[in-house]
Amino acid sequence: MHMHRYEKWWLVVGTGSLIVFLIILGISAFHQGHQPPSAKAYVNPEQVDQISPFNEPGLKKVEGKAWDYELVFVASAFFYNPGEIEIPKGAKVKVIATTKDVVHGFEIAGTNINMTLEPGYVSEYVATFDDVGEFLILCNEYCGTGHHTMKSMIKVVEQ
Ligand code: CUA
Repeated sequence: MHMHRYEKWWLVVGTGSLIVFLIILGISAFHQGHQPPSAKAYVNPEQVDQISPFNEPGLKKVEGKAWDYELVFVASAFFYNPGEIEIPKGAKVKVIATTKDVVHGFEIAGTNINMTLEPGYVSEYVATFDDVGEFLILCNEYCGTGHHTMKSMIKVVEQ
């Protein structure tokens, strides 16, 4: 097959720049330690139900920490545990969440809380709930046929 000289050059330049790009990407990812969000804690996704704090999902008052409550969520196809939770107004809450199966989203509508839950990883976010009302938690990562039904609810109530 005959190939024009310029065409060969373009193939070399194109392939070469792709290789250079991937090398730069790879080196910078390792060098800067890129990881999934937070990624400070890991959990065996097959044993989530037995491992603290995920063996007791829900809201728990804590002492001696920078936050007042810990709110533990376990996601699985296609629901969150707990399915509904009440939080006293003004509470500083550390949300701790993971998933038992596939990747799920964790977005609290009307706030800037938006986490991706990945199997094996623990996602955390500290937030203060100052506004009374109902806040829908929804899954914004497509996770299967029941994706659109996957939700929970935070109710912020007067103390
Ligand atoms: Cu869980 Cu979409």
